[in-house]
Amino acid sequence: MKLVGVVGGGTMGAGIAEVCAKAGSDVLVLETKQEFADAATKRVTTSISRGVAKGKISQDDADAAIARVRVTLDIDEFADRDLVVEAAPEIESLKFEIFGKLDTIVKPSGILATNTSSIPVIKVATATKRPEQVLGMHFFNPVPLMPLVEIISTLVTSPETAAAVTDYAKNTLGKTTVQAGDRSGFIVNALLIPYLCQAIKMLDSGYATAEDIDAAMKGGCGYPMGPLTLVDTIGLDITLAAAESLYAEFAEPHLAPPALLRRMVESGRLGRKVGRGFYKYD
Ligand code: CAA
Repeated sequence: MKLVGVVGGGTMGAGIAEVCAKAGSDVLVLETKQEFADAATKRVTTSISRGVAKGKISQDDADAAIARVRVTLDIDEFADRDLVVEAAPEIESLKFEIFGKLDTIVKPSGILATNTSSIPVIKVATATKRPEQVLGMHFFNPVPLMPLVEIISTLVTSPETAAAVTDYAKNTLGKTTVQAGDRSGFIVNALLIPYLCQAIKMLDSGYATAEDIDAAMKGGCGYPMGPLTLVDTIGLDITLAAAESLYAEFAEPHLAPPALLRRMVESGRLGRKVGRGFYKYD
């Protein structure tokens, strides 16, 4: 896995590019417009520089990592990639299109992974002619700080593909890995999203304030951030997509996404990334 491709340079894609580059891989990030490409480059360099300021990485190593990341607008440049991790928006039709294109461009031995948190991995795998080389590689936000990667094998992912990607995540990226089946939510979101939605329902019912819900879970359970701050960090749109996927998969009434979450997404209050979610950010 010397040559890595990342589709999408948003919060997750930039984080994935950063950890791969810091681990020594040559990383190519695909973006769709020059302004998005510039923003992706800025995300990676800002975060790596923050690592220097926090004393986590030397200036020389940071410079070398930044030099290993390049952003391109041309998907044809992905031909030589050993591993491609897709971190595009959670839109099924968009992901099918991306996997279909990657399949025709990336060399036959290349492994294609998706960082989706809400779309069944088998669906994107079947957009390719190499479904045994497709799997889920699910990182957590913020990627440079969260140790976990969920590895999701579909019914047709080959054991060799899962083993190679697990080895890369564990031994090259230094992440903790867990294996999960191709079910909505995998392990983490199947537990986390219902909890977050319950907090939103509690707020909507007027039962407690946002500040008190967050303070309760931080102070009472030792969580690093309260649920509503966490939804703002993840993004309300991402949280809604994950909740919709769980509800579609299991059809249990308690998994129905909260109306307040829908209304906030529809009104553009997507969380920290736009400066407004359950809280306001400068
Ligand atoms: N590079 C390297 N290291 C960095 C860094 C950077 N850019 N920025 C910070 N750090 C280091 C700090 O030096 C510090 O290290 P030490 O503990 O050794 O001192 C550590 O990271 C924590 O940094 P801070 O003190 O600045 O930040 P914090 O204490 O406020 O913690 C946090 C930040 C780790 C994000 C914490 O708030 C947290 O764990 N939040 C919960 C996040 C979470 O639950 N994420 C999962 C979301 S779900 C998801 O992503 C999946 C999905 O599909 C929806």
